[in-house]
Amino acid sequence: MRMVDIIEKKREAIELTEKEIEFVIQGYTKGDIPDYQVSALLMAIYFNGMTNDEASHLTKAMLHSGDIIDLSQIKGVKVDKHSTGGVGDKTTLVLGPLVASMGCKLAKLSGRGLGHTGGTLDKLESIDGFNISLSEEDFIKQVNDINIAVAGQTKKLVPADKLLYALRDVTATVPSIPLIASSIMSKKLASGADVICLDVKIGDGAFMKTIEDARKLSEIMVSIGESLGKKVSAFITSMDQPLGYAVGNRLEVKEVIDTLEGHGPKDLEELCVEIAAYMAMYAGLVSDIEAGKNLAYDHLNNGLALKKFYEFIEAQGGHIDDLDHFIQVQEIYEFKADKAGYIKNIKALNIGLASMKIGGGRETKEDNIDPSVGIVLEKKIGDFVHKNDVLAKVYLNSKLGDNVLDDLKQAFIISEDKQEISPVIKEIIQ
Ligand code: URA
Repeated sequence: MRMVDIIEKKREAIELTEKEIEFVIQGYTKGDIPDYQVSALLMAIYFNGMTNDEASHLTKAMLHSGDIIDLSQIKGVKVDKHSTGGVGDKTTLVLGPLVASMGCKLAKLSGRGLGHTGGTLDKLESIDGFNISLSEEDFIKQVNDINIAVAGQTKKLVPADKLLYALRDVTATVPSIPLIASSIMSKKLASGADVICLDVKIGDGAFMKTIEDARKLSEIMVSIGESLGKKVSAFITSMDQPLGYAVGNRLEVKEVIDTLEGHGPKDLEELCVEIAAYMAMYAGLVSDIEAGKNLAYDHLNNGLALKKFYEFIEAQGGHIDDLDHFIQVQEIYEFKADKAGYIKNIKALNIGLASMKIGGGRETKEDNIDPSVGIVLEKKIGDFVHKNDVLAKVYLNSKLGDNVLDDLKQAFIISEDKQEISPVIKEIIQ
């Protein structure tokens, strides 16, 4: 087999075989195929797309490029979730303890945030003592003991994705739907779960900008999962504004605790309850979605989900000794409305960038995060504001720069017209 023939075939939009795709991934991971040839193939895929079968073969080849976690020693149905990345997206921290308290087994490997999006590991590590480096043995034992463990991905998990992603980043081929689908699904499948719920965000702060693209990505990922014997559902959800009110690591953890106490933001609660219901149904704990939602609401209101959160934090070495002094900042700056009207949009991208610039996120992988800083929205889409009403509070440990103020100004769009409030979940694909 020759790489040049495979590139030519894809250039002519002819479907590649499983063997050809395996040849590319194995050869590239071993260093036998050079970057320039894989770059050419990626560009041909970018323009000509892939069939669902090709995307499935690519996922399988990537999945087998490294370690696959064997979760067979965990008793019961293993559930997992993935978000394509958003701003204020603390879903895992609510959903994890919630479904664990309902009886699901959540064994999850998470990532760090980069740029305007936050990462679950950063939020967890903002809790003193929390350890994200669990051995496979401890990870499995913890899920068997308390139904939940969240750890960092090891370097050996899907090495082909790391190589390909780095190449896509410098060849302008990241935004290819089948390449995104294979990248996400190879990592999810390598983590060993039986049931996978995918949160596909749309909006200006998200990878997918339109419902059509989000639908295409969701359909490919569901089809890949099913071709490999997994139950996969994709939730297409809005990133027209940050999820919940809080953006920034400890601020988000605090909002997670509020939500687990049953008085969190409605959009975050709705999303977590819906996904929890699907997970519980697929895990065979309830007969249908309605019963799953009722059980999820019960666990948010009777303290069981919150109890599980603290059990989970403690199991991984974390502790929050004094929630009232958890957020340590020098200043809280109030960003105010410059006119009256209805909030039409809160651009998640600008809020995420503003939070990153004050130290709540990283611009490069090497940057350090200040766990306490961030932004708390005081208003959401549809709210009416008077001139000088506070739109957001900025939690700071440094001087507020004009570049941050510019982001905040760009983020809030205020209109004279009353706004429709649309549900956070737009569609569910399964
Ligand atoms: N997230 C991933 O894990 N991979 C992509 O290609 C895009 C988003």
